[in-house]
Amino acid sequence: MANPIAFLLLFLFFSPFAFLKVQAFTGTYGVNYGRLANNIPSPDEVVALLKAAKVRNVRIYDADHSVLKAFGGTGLEIVVGLPNGQLQDMSANADHALNWVKDNVQSFLPATRIVGIAVGNEVLGVEDISLWEALLGAVKNIYNATKKLHLDEMIEISTANSFAVFANSYPPSSCKFKDDISPYMKPLLEFFSQIGSPFCLNAYPFLAYIRDPENIDINYALFKPTKGIYDSKFRLRYDNMLDAQIDAAYAALENAGFDKMEVIVTETGWASNGDQNEVGANVSNARTYNYNLRKRLAKKKGTPHRPKNVVKAYVFAIFNENTKPGATSERNFGLFKADGSISYDIGFHGLNAGDSSHLALKNIKNQGLSPSYTMVFSLSALIVLIFWS
Ligand SMILES: *[C@@H]1O[C@H](CO)[C@@H](O)[C@H](O)[C@H]1NC(C)=O
Ligand SMILES: *[C@@H]1O[C@H](CO)[C@@H](O)[C@H](O)[C@H]1NC(C)=O
Repeated sequence: MANPIAFLLLFLFFSPFAFLKVQAFTGTYGVNYGRLANNIPSPDEVVALLKAAKVRNVRIYDADHSVLKAFGGTGLEIVVGLPNGQLQDMSANADHALNWVKDNVQSFLPATRIVGIAVGNEVLGVEDISLWEALLGAVKNIYNATKKLHLDEMIEISTANSFAVFANSYPPSSCKFKDDISPYMKPLLEFFSQIGSPFCLNAYPFLAYIRDPENIDINYALFKPTKGIYDSKFRLRYDNMLDAQIDAAYAALENAGFDKMEVIVTETGWASNGDQNEVGANVSNARTYNYNLRKRLAKKKGTPHRPKNVVKAYVFAIFNENTKPGATSERNFGLFKADGSISYDIGFHGLNAGDSSHLALKNIKNQGLSPSYTMVFSLSALIVLIFWS
């Protein structure tokens, strides 16, 4: 096929990849695809759902092969997870880490755009101390495996932290890592700063609110108009709790000597149903939080303390997960119900015909697809047309 136009288009199609260092996050909005459920749509249907919602960044909590296969050729960018139960093995055996990366990451590249590996989830401060001890070793062995396979430039290694790592997060400027966590956290941060990884934070104004509904203004937690809080050391005013939680993490990092590290939010969300004592877990609050969060992220702005670090977040979660243990709220964080219909209207469309959004999306900019993504896709469509003509 000696069609010069086709060759030119092929060149244009592939040239962006030559100069692009793969980023683990495109735009500002992503979702967590938790799958602790026996009634949710198939991975192929999830791909359709995410494409319709123009959501490009996805995290899973394992490296399920049916998901990785379904995501192949879709352009979706996925962070896979190494489950906590495998940390000790991966820490003790570099060859197991190498095989894990070969089997669960390398074998799906490049069709499936795996852009990161989350090593463990909420380990420090939550899991038992034997896992705290294994975390850094597992991170290093997984990183070394990506290096050996020449994937280290494309795959970001990280681990997500809950608020259990902080001793005090109010006001944000006072935030520090807990004394018993620091000896594990500091070497981990040292390593992450060497390899350019961010600090991953699971940030839930929902959890802060349900623990203290008497003293926390729900408007502050839901991004609604409020007088907010004033941080006198930072000399900054906060009008929403998520920004304050992110700046608390920045303060703890500064305190530990890591003032260049970026914070990204790997989980945030609001439950649409809860137990009697989970005040505020209802549909209208969940809708308000998730709608306002989308608007907040679409602004592509930083926080009061770090105005240049644009806030990036993955929402928890795509679906309500019916086999998740714990409080009722745990099974009700989904933007979508198990049947693929929307849990509430924040501008996304459900899987089923007729389940559509009534929202005008004037206020929410299209934040899923970057221009280059759109360009690549229209170019590939053109190439197909030319080869077929
Ligand atoms: C990682 O690899 C480097 C050299 O490639 C080696 O010096 C280091 O000991 C390895 N680290 C681990 C934890 O295996
Ligand atoms: C949801 O909870 C709020 C309090 O946080 C309450 O004011 C509101 O009436 C509740 N909405 C529904 C639909 O139950």
